[in-house]
Amino acid sequence: MSYNTILITKKAAIATVTINRPKKLNALNKETIKELHNAFKDLEGDKEVKAIIVTGSGEKAFVAGADISEFANFSVKEGKKLAAKGQEILFDFIENLSTPVIAAVNGFALGGGLELAMSCHFRVASDNAKMGLPEVSLGVIPGYGGTQRLPQLVGKGRAMELIMTAGMISAEQAKSYGLVNHVTTLEELLPLCSKIANKISNNSSVAISYAIKAINAGFKNTVNGYEQEIKAFGACFGTNDFTEGTTAFLDKRKADFPGS
Ligand code: COA
Repeated sequence: MSYNTILITKKAAIATVTINRPKKLNALNKETIKELHNAFKDLEGDKEVKAIIVTGSGEKAFVAGADISEFANFSVKEGKKLAAKGQEILFDFIENLSTPVIAAVNGFALGGGLELAMSCHFRVASDNAKMGLPEVSLGVIPGYGGTQRLPQLVGKGRAMELIMTAGMISAEQAKSYGLVNHVTTLEELLPLCSKIANKISNNSSVAISYAIKAINAGFKNTVNGYEQEIKAFGACFGTNDFTEGTTAFLDKRKADFPGS
């Protein structure tokens, strides 16, 4: 299969998926989300692939979020659909993949980028990485599972603060929060992920796929939270704050929220 926005490489039993829109800091547009879905589906069916690494192209960003230019004019209905479809075909899809997926966070992982990293089974970051969920600075909320997975990983209070402040944390802070498992240099990031992936590949893939299912099952009581997130995310698209937040980003100015 050939792709426009992602690259796939395979070495021994390890596949690497690289999101390849460096000029847009690898922001996730509709095409990238669809291509990622197809790639993961394909790799899951490839019995030679025992682990998958996901990373961003270039030295600056893993993924700087969902592509704001694509949804700035969306209605409430379109907003809800955006979140629901994205969760279904990419974020929940990766979380429930039977092949282990490691996020190699090589720079900015913001909004949908951090949500993508959080959907992966675990994360390794380079020391230049910066992570956050800045959606409320645009007048919207995380819509790709961020309100559910961030508190699962770092605890409710830290998630509340990160989401409310729209702030970014460093790789070291993310490690101290349990959001990433390891921090290394940018140069060593992919070698370290490959080393871990190789270790995984020596174990039973069947047993690992059952372990993924069992671990995920412990978090399934949050299913209504995901539905609530989709509803609330859609509702943001009917607010003046959302229009102002996204317009200000695209105009490259600071937002002045009307509060309605
Ligand atoms: N959606 C669409 N385009 C994006 C993007 C996003 N989420 N993030 C970055 N880009 C684009 C910029 O518009 C810019 O495009 P241009 O060169 O055509 O103008 C390009 O990527 C480079 O980004 P720029 O903002 O110039 O880089 P920077 O180094 O000054 O800032 C960030 C880096 C990550 C701090 C900044 O790009 C940013 O805040 N991005 C949005 C993050 C966000 O809110 N994500 C959540 C979305 S829900």
